[in-house]
Amino acid sequence: MTTPTLAPPQTPLDVERVRADFPILGISARGKPLVYLDNAATSQKPRSVIEATSTYYEAQNGNIHRGVHYLSELATILYDETRATAQRFFNARHAHEIIFTRGTTEGINLVASGFAQSVLKPGDEIVLSTLEHHSNIVPWQLACERSGAQLRVVPVTESGELDIEAYHQLLNDRTRLVAITWVSNALGTINPVRDLVNAAHTRGIPVLLDGAQAAPHITVDVQEVGCDFFVCSSHKMLGPTGVGILYGTEAWLDRLPPYQGGGDMIDTVTFEKTTWARLPSKFEAGTPDIAGVVAFKHAMDYLDRVGLERIAAHEHEVVEYATRQVQEIPGLRVIGTAAQKAGVLSFVMDCAHPHDIGTILDSEGIAIRAGHHCAQPLMRRFGVPSTARASFYLYNTRDEVDVLVSALHKVRSLFA
Ligand code: ALA
Repeated sequence: MTTPTLAPPQTPLDVERVRADFPILGISARGKPLVYLDNAATSQKPRSVIEATSTYYEAQNGNIHRGVHYLSELATILYDETRATAQRFFNARHAHEIIFTRGTTEGINLVASGFAQSVLKPGDEIVLSTLEHHSNIVPWQLACERSGAQLRVVPVTESGELDIEAYHQLLNDRTRLVAITWVSNALGTINPVRDLVNAAHTRGIPVLLDGAQAAPHITVDVQEVGCDFFVCSSHKMLGPTGVGILYGTEAWLDRLPPYQGGGDMIDTVTFEKTTWARLPSKFEAGTPDIAGVVAFKHAMDYLDRVGLERIAAHEHEVVEYATRQVQEIPGLRVIGTAAQKAGVLSFVMDCAHPHDIGTILDSEGIAIRAGHHCAQPLMRRFGVPSTARASFYLYNTRDEVDVLVSALHKVRSLFA
């Protein structure tokens, strides 16, 4: 009989080693050591990503798919290497199911515009949730205006979780798409996306997942979750701004019309009729942010090296610690207490407006976000105009949480 070998326990993330890879974490802000807790807005970049950007412009810059010369060929190879990396990273079946966009917002607009043009009819319905970022609400409102379709909205519970029963009740024969966030940017709630997709697919309804806040923090396997579309942004996952990914199944991407016309997305052009290039070029008109795409590969490589499971475990520990600490502060209320949460801590204080909290914290070198987080319907649901939000990532420490908590005590002593 053989003794089963136990998998070695996963070693915890070495946060000091990680921090050494991020030059910006060593700066001072307002004369204090920077404490960067605005990761849901954008992440900081490791040296490998910064160097990939400068190396690209120093030694690799050429336009893709256009020249026979050395630099054009090199840039094209590098650009396509990022696509291959993204295919692996998100486990897409084909590389051509990965479309480069400017970010999550553009990805959603692309799908919404295609649906308005070729799928939606008057009376059709699109199901969203109260947790959505404006970028997963407004494009659908525009699509509804163009097509006569209507939005149906899944409510959230007091803890900031989706009302699953209401979700099931909203799905019907008129539903043409479910467009829902995987992780809430404002509250950190992680939605049970596999169940949501299964329920929609049982009725033949496709699902778009807004993965802007999921891709940086949890393992995303688009085939396993079974979504039809998935969108995310490089800049929230250690990569450059101005680059994102739209994943769509081949069947759906073939079915939707092009989003923009221009160079690279055509097969033949005459004044009478133009035919489209094959995927992915059909959706990549014009010269993209080539340097950004090239550097994005290094961000995904970095996340792979550290390991998303290790990152998620670290963030979970930090946000739990932070939640316990801030709850000791009188008059502070945490908004969003879902059982499954990413590293987001949203709160209000009875003594101070979130913008005042943000300003005092800034004077201590602490970066948080204060406002409605582009989620006004969600704020309205909780009866607040805005919240203060600390959002954590792989390089944040318990010591930084302690700095945050002592600054919040200072806020209280100033305003209460
Ligand atoms: N969507 C980003 C945030 O939540 C900008 O801050």
